[in-house]
Amino acid sequence: MRIRYLSNTEEILEASRLLVRDPEQMRGQWRTLCPQAKSLAMEIGCGKGRFIGEMARKDPDTLYLGVEKFSTILARSIMNNEAEEELPQNLRLIRSDALDLDEAFADGELDRLYLNFSDPWPKDRHAKRRLTSDRFLPLYARWLKPGGELHFKTDNDGLFPWSVESLLANGWKILFQTDDWHACPEQKDDVMTEYEIQFSAAGKKIHKLTAVYAGSDDKVL
Ligand SMILES: C[S@@+](CC[C@H](N)C(=O)[O-])C[C@H]1O[C@@H](n2cnc3c(N)ncnc32)[C@H](O)[C@@H]1O
Repeated sequence: MRIRYLSNTEEILEASRLLVRDPEQMRGQWRTLCPQAKSLAMEIGCGKGRFIGEMARKDPDTLYLGVEKFSTILARSIMNNEAEEELPQNLRLIRSDALDLDEAFADGELDRLYLNFSDPWPKDRHAKRRLTSDRFLPLYARWLKPGGELHFKTDNDGLFPWSVESLLANGWKILFQTDDWHACPEQKDDVMTEYEIQFSAAGKKIHKLTAVYAGSDDKVL
């Protein structure tokens, strides 16, 4: 993601009312941040925060967490989502690499996980960095409750089939899959991300899948 350098990134993070500064302290207790929430959902790689912010505004019964590894990008998300005087009570942001969040969630604590337009890392030697690689999938499998859904959208024609293979090889079951999400009737209820707006405006078809972890002894082929 290209982003203009913000000279006051640290001040923005410091003053943020949405930022969770010590996510490991929240392990098993995320719902206490928004007691009325009936479920917990998270986007990894939330970028400038359009998707996660809109989802929170649309669905007040869910606590939404946006995770972003770069401070400068997260600062944009904070600015965008704290611009209104009234903060969404059901939105929190986390500055972290997803790999460092292992201890931040109890088993089965998450109801839904979103990966939107994840960096494709096209070189083979960087494949482990893909958010759908076998370095990340076991974390998601542990964090999600049984039957908890992983939602993945991308414009990338290489990353999508690679991710399908990776999910299947790691014991996940694909519930829904399309190579043209915007032609699906279900899309009208979805929130578009910054990248999705750009790519679809440029005529690019969007791939989307929904998957659940089916268990390590029950791999679905
Ligand atoms: C291509 S951008 C997509 C942003 C947004 N989801 C969208 O669709 O507009 C991918 C984002 O994921 C973040 N990211 C990549 N790997 C990550 C990781 N391991 N943990 C947290 N964030 C990550 C990047 O810094 C970047 O902001």
